[in-house]
Amino acid sequence: MGIITSSILELGVLGDERGFLSVIESNNQIPFDIKRVFYIYGTKEGVSRGFHAHHKTRQALICVAGSCKVYLDNTVRKEDVILDSPNKVLILEPNDWHEMYDFTPDCVLLVLASELYDSNDYIRDYQEFLEVYDNLEQEV
Ligand code: TYD
Repeated sequence: MGIITSSILELGVLGDERGFLSVIESNNQIPFDIKRVFYIYGTKEGVSRGFHAHHKTRQALICVAGSCKVYLDNTVRKEDVILDSPNKVLILEPNDWHEMYDFTPDCVLLVLASELYDSNDYIRDYQEFLEVYDNLEQEV
């Protein structure tokens, strides 16, 4: 198995005179079964979070209010993405070391995960991350 590239997708926006609505269903708009939902909010100024990768968990990140940035590193490609719209979704693959930063005070970062919480699925040590993923081939 190779490295899988995380990607940004745009949700459809259903709108009428009342405002807007976007929808996410398991295995429809996002490519996995949703087993867990959590959200990060009230993030203090200057705080960065994350600093880990996963063995198995796939996630979908959406700033449903405000904005934040996400630094991604899959050992081959390092990039920064901005989540600044409620219809913009980052499909975050387990092989991406990620750090979230530049949270606006009003940011609510919604995360949909493919697995239940399991601390053993986290890789919190960067050297260990490189050992797990650095020898895998890049899959585009
Ligand atoms: P943490 O992993 O530090 O968040 P981040 O990666 O954004 O810096 O999570 C904060 C706390 O919440 C930590 O004690 C673990 C706990 N937690 C759960 O119990 N369940 C979950 O689904 C998540 C994401 C975290």
